[in-house]
Amino acid sequence: MIDSASSGHWEHIVEVSELPQSFDFVTTRCSIGPVLVTRDAAGALHVLSNTCPHQRATVCREPAGRAERFECPNHYWLFAPDGRFLGSRLSVASGRAATDDPSKNLARADVTVTDGWVMARFR
Ligand code: FES
Repeated sequence: MIDSASSGHWEHIVEVSELPQSFDFVTTRCSIGPVLVTRDAAGALHVLSNTCPHQRATVCREPAGRAERFECPNHYWLFAPDGRFLGSRLSVASGRAATDDPSKNLARADVTVTDGWVMARFR
């Protein structure tokens, strides 16, 4: 049961059949703007803002595909399928782990699946 009275509201995002496997992704739009829908390695679904927290570029510009991480084309920040900031391309390539800083993560919605649809609620 979805509670539409809480902060934010639930929206239909994509049909869950569009993401059958781990690392599948789809981009689309909803009330907050562009979003990135992903399945992580464990198969969990995520609905993420597709706007980079650094300087607001669109992170993923493909309509759909498969990816184990997402790279913003402006300054090469990397994000995991659950939206976690992994570091810049250069720092990841040199083996440096990013410090945990939630302000650098892609904004993440609450997610549920209802009647074959991925539903999301941003707070
Ligand atoms: S705008 Fe995305 S890394 Fe700078």
